[in-house]
Amino acid sequence: MEKQKDANLFDPPFFAGIFGCSIKYSLSPLIHSTMSRLSGANLCYGSFDIPAEKFADAFNGFKILKMKGANITQPYKAEVLRYLDSLSGEAETVCAANTVNMEEDGSYRGYNTDIAGFIKAVDYEFKEGISGKRIMLLGAGGASRAVLYALIKEGAKDILIINRSIDKARELKEDGDLWKTRLRSDSAVSYSDFYLNGISNSPVLQSCDIVVNTVTPSGESGEQIRRFVAGLGNFPDKTLLMDIVYSPRRTQFLNLFEGERLISANGLSMLLFQAIESFYIWTGKRIDFNALKEELAGIF
Ligand code: ATR
Repeated sequence: MEKQKDANLFDPPFFAGIFGCSIKYSLSPLIHSTMSRLSGANLCYGSFDIPAEKFADAFNGFKILKMKGANITQPYKAEVLRYLDSLSGEAETVCAANTVNMEEDGSYRGYNTDIAGFIKAVDYEFKEGISGKRIMLLGAGGASRAVLYALIKEGAKDILIINRSIDKARELKEDGDLWKTRLRSDSAVSYSDFYLNGISNSPVLQSCDIVVNTVTPSGESGEQIRRFVAGLGNFPDKTLLMDIVYSPRRTQFLNLFEGERLISANGLSMLLFQAIESFYIWTGKRIDFNALKEELAGIF
């Protein structure tokens, strides 16, 4: 996308920002101000690092000030729902919103752009769609919900959820079964813990096209995944390994596969794609991914 003329100095700015906890290093302010510059929008985007007990007050302040848009990140994507006037179908289904928009009537509506962001990131990184693929999904926390919904929506053939706590894996699978009905999807969803309790067999263990990691990185979780993956044997050469984390760029999960001829992607492209969707909701302007990536080359 060509750079457009800067917004008129006298255009009133519209205000937006990211709400989360411990988000000092969030790249969203940089990404959104870059999109604002590229599109000529007059966006003023802040970062609001809010402790848990203050989130309700902070978000009410956002509404009282009649700010246009918010991005919501951990740990508030589910909590924010109760302060919104309406939800998009997808935000309602996965019970999480990462984007808030002040609609034309002044009400606040929640959206989930992580779903589209994930789908577009897989297309971009894998050069193939999700449809018909066999997927291993590591983790069953908040972030995995949008990922599972996206996989089912796009018609993944088989999905195996692996999680430390088998109860959470089962709950996510049960939600997945409801989403399958709603989306009329044939995806087969199964679940297990890292010791393969809970499944007798899954085609994903025989051959797998995509492994998505949503497990919170730590020494303990890294070691658990390392042992699990070692027990599985090698993935085929063209398997896509996708981490939703992007810091450090070569994430702990991706490091486990150092030297193997697999396609690996951290969460940066998903971050950019979900941001493009949020920006589109606020402004009606769709920023080209490659143009944005070029502008932000320094962060890759
Ligand atoms: P997020 O919103 O980022 O997904 P979350 O909801 O707390 O955060 O989910 C964190 C995920 O990382 C979960 O799948 C969690 O496993 P449990 O459901 O068993 O808690 C996983 N996780 C966190 N720490 C872990 C560890 N030390 N070992 C294995 N998995 C871990």
